[in-house]
Amino acid sequence: MPTEPEARLTSKAFVRPGDRPCPDDRAPASESQFVRACKGQPTDCTPVWLMRQAGRFIPEYRQLRARLGFLELCKKPDLAAELTVMAVEKLGVDAGIIFADILLPLEALGVGLEYAGGEGPVIGRPLRCREDLSRLRLFEPADSLSFVLEAIGLARSGLPATTPLIGFAGAPFTLASYLVEGGASRHFENTKRLMYTDRSCWHELMRLLSQLTADYLNAQVAHGVQAVQLFDSWVGCLSQADYREFVLPYTKQTIAALSATVPLIHFGTGTAHLLELMLEAGGDVIGLDWRVSLSAAWARLGERVAVQGNLDPVVLLADQAEIKRQTRRILLEAGGKPGHVFNLGHGVLPTTPVDNVRFLVDTVHELGGR
Ligand code: CP3
Repeated sequence: MPTEPEARLTSKAFVRPGDRPCPDDRAPASESQFVRACKGQPTDCTPVWLMRQAGRFIPEYRQLRARLGFLELCKKPDLAAELTVMAVEKLGVDAGIIFADILLPLEALGVGLEYAGGEGPVIGRPLRCREDLSRLRLFEPADSLSFVLEAIGLARSGLPATTPLIGFAGAPFTLASYLVEGGASRHFENTKRLMYTDRSCWHELMRLLSQLTADYLNAQVAHGVQAVQLFDSWVGCLSQADYREFVLPYTKQTIAALSATVPLIHFGTGTAHLLELMLEAGGDVIGLDWRVSLSAAWARLGERVAVQGNLDPVVLLADQAEIKRQTRRILLEAGGKPGHVFNLGHGVLPTTPVDNVRFLVDTVHELGGR
């Protein structure tokens, strides 16, 4: 039977002569400029990577997606690894992030996950009550998510030994929100209703997700990542009081259960009111979105913690003069202090021109040199 030609990327084709991350970063990945910045140690240059750097704004990714579904792509470790490496080579960033998705563990719980027609994720059987909780299929990440771990091994060997690889997971609240809502949400009414009306079910669910997330992240560390990011993308919808009661203990447990060998980035959006509480939950680096001033947020958090961020992703749709102006402003806000990782305030938007992303990375390296 004739077989279809293997979907492949030729990532090496993207390397341009002279491309190099943080100039002269020749340390092993575990002591790279990026890892040093995460630990609050001095660096020669401000390291930069971008959330969603391997996503839909890259034409080669879209070509692959024309042939394969997103979940299929995630489950082919060779392609997931190649996408990870390609983004690093194409963009000149200082770290790779494994190509995967925060919702993969939900599929492994047996609730049905689909990415329908580019409109975002849909959970087939959302969790709304205690009976639904008892139907979840508990699993070992090393078994059910072995394809992600395998992709980490392949990406690790595909990247230069000096380039760090970032692993990630959704934080318990953001995972719970997809599991309960069944998809993206504006007001999180099902999630909050469960939280307010069936506390014991909520707490049990969060305990389960927090354990699962810790196991999953530890497995990623064991397979070779040099840092991990915990995405609590939607936690900004909660009040301080609700964060403290319904979320903080679980995010704290997740972080406390992690192998302390690699730094953890704790990220959320719309979290200006929650920064101190997120710090209390844990993390070596707090990820900031663009709505806050980086200098004011860092002053509130204290200089013992590192910060990541925080260019508005929409600035990358503007011209290069504006990209440079706003990049300079953020670097000035960081003030050259140890412990700043440059990033966007949220993921790269699908309509972003690749050249603008390259320009941003080059600009951070040019202006962020010590
Ligand atoms: O950063 C990277 O390049 C690595 C890969 C990565 C993806 N998703 C790939 C992806 C990462 C780190 C994520 C995290 C993720 N996934 C988050 C947290 C970050 C954030 O944006 O707040 C969330 C909330 C999700 C859930 C998710 N996955 C949504 C809401 C969607 C659909 C809409 C969208 O933003 O694309 C996805 C799909 C998804 N995840 C795609 C990719 C490349 C697009 C799939 C496609 O090709 O249609």
